[in-house]
Amino acid sequence: MDVFRTLEEWRAARRSMRGNAGFVPTMGALHEGHAALLRRCRAENDLAILSIYVNPTQFDDASDLERYPRTLETDLEIAADLGMDAAIVPSYDELYPDGFRFRVDETRLTRELCGAHRPGHFTGVLTVVLKLLNLVRPKRAYFGEKDYQQYLLIRDMCLAMFVDVEIVPCSTVREADGLALSSRNARLRGPARALAPRLHELLSSELEDGVVARRLAEAGFSVDYVETRDGRRFGAASLPGDGGDVRLIDNVARNAKEQGA
Ligand code: PAF
Repeated sequence: MDVFRTLEEWRAARRSMRGNAGFVPTMGALHEGHAALLRRCRAENDLAILSIYVNPTQFDDASDLERYPRTLETDLEIAADLGMDAAIVPSYDELYPDGFRFRVDETRLTRELCGAHRPGHFTGVLTVVLKLLNLVRPKRAYFGEKDYQQYLLIRDMCLAMFVDVEIVPCSTVREADGLALSSRNARLRGPARALAPRLHELLSSELEDGVVARRLAEAGFSVDYVETRDGRRFGAASLPGDGGDVRLIDNVARNAKEQGA
């Protein structure tokens, strides 16, 4: 696997690449959830490319950015073992030559669900993803459904901006007890780790959103929201973890019976 640590090298190499490219943007700290995206990308495309970049503009909380796990060398080994052709590991200065002067501002869904609790988060996500898609020019890009709101926003941004790419949603990968895999889970210990699967369990139940939120709070979660919309129930809640609270998000498809419908 070729590793590109500057965009100058990457752009020169990209010009001579032939065939359809698949792309998986990541922030590193790769786990089985990422591995599933990388495998699918590898299987479905001539060229399989990932990026590893902890994007500061999407962190609304400076301490969350500081604590975000950074495991670059292991990540590169995992990606190489999965047969990826290229990894791009850019720097802030190269990715944001404008100092984040230009940004992608979506005016509806970025204000709801996680967006209502993490101001600016999705503007940072959309901006960096648009930059990366322009740099990689993939035929397909792969995103996990754990971050379903992110997937919807990226899909809609590409339609709105005429970015010629297929945005491929991939099923959430879970631990045996139902907890959705996330790089942040590593900071959950003992009782908090044991409690964490309750989020998925309660979101999957037939209880009403308000009851789910109450049950989570009673169990010890600090709840941001539980909300059903467009055939899906979304939830975000935090538990105490190593070095501060760990915010968990999850969502489950709902059939016909929708809250308030
Ligand atoms: O889902 C993530 O890991 C990030 O939000 C992404 C898409 C790589 C953008 O930084």
